[in-house]
Amino acid sequence: MTLQNKVAIITGASGGIGEAVAKELDAAGMNLVLTARSQDKLEHLASNLQHAKIVPGEITNPELPQKLVDFAIQTFGQLDVVFNNAGVMTVGPIEVVDIEAICQMVRVNVEAAYRIGYTALRHFKESGSGFLINTSSIAGLKTVPQLGAYCGTKFAIEAFTDSLRVELAGTDIRVSSIAPGTVDTGLYDKWGDQQKDFIYSGGVLQPIDIARCVRFILEQPGNVLIPRLLVVPAAEPV
Ligand SMILES: NC(=O)c1ccc[n+]([C@@H]2O[C@H](COP(=O)([O-])OP(=O)(O)OC[C@H]3O[C@@H](n4cnc5c(N)ncnc54)[C@H](OP(=O)(O)O)[C@@H]3O)[C@@H](O)[C@H]2O)c1
Repeated sequence: MTLQNKVAIITGASGGIGEAVAKELDAAGMNLVLTARSQDKLEHLASNLQHAKIVPGEITNPELPQKLVDFAIQTFGQLDVVFNNAGVMTVGPIEVVDIEAICQMVRVNVEAAYRIGYTALRHFKESGSGFLINTSSIAGLKTVPQLGAYCGTKFAIEAFTDSLRVELAGTDIRVSSIAPGTVDTGLYDKWGDQQKDFIYSGGVLQPIDIARCVRFILEQPGNVLIPRLLVVPAAEPV
């Protein structure tokens, strides 16, 4: 796909991977609709990009997906790409893990991602083409002690992505996942030093590394699809 003048929605755009993807796709000449809860961060980011508008919101709000699609079309006249990326991570041993936070993670990482995905794809089916990229994780392919519930949310995203890809085979609608290993973002802000030491022990990627991979997925010729791009630090311990 040639990205110049195409239109993308990016969820989780206020920091980390989403912010880096926004910068990368902006550099490619795309028009962007950015969403997350942190309005101030979105405003700051958009003010440094060429053609970016913001729609702040809570990703679990069932009305947000359609609002984003309608906004993209009203503002830019079309919608070509949805980067379904917002996510959180709650981890911990059985005895102390915060069960309510685990359930909220499922609402953000799975329920909201399904809502965004299906809403985007219904629009793409009407318009005839489009590209959905879901942010999965290496944790969507392998489990790790104390991360089971998070891994489950990302296994769900892998299953969702693969099933949709096959359902849409032969159309001009593409579905892929990006599956990063450890990336240096706000995802680990609440982690203790010991937990961080383990997860960072194989080195970390920077958000820009993932952004380049997302652009690579999108820029493949029409007869080529990358169903999943797993990208990890060279010394990833998982
Ligand atoms: N960092 C890693 O090592 C890694 C590895 C594999 C996969 N991932 C995945 O990558 C994705 C992005 O994470 P990140 O690493 O870039 O972390 P991050 O820096 O914490 O970014 C998470 C983004 O999601 C948004 N978000 C979280 N909860 C939300 C909610 N309830 N409503 C709306 N937006 C919400 C945040 O915005 P607000 O807080 O402003 O709402 C933020 O923009 C996630 O799906 C994560 O699971 C990350």
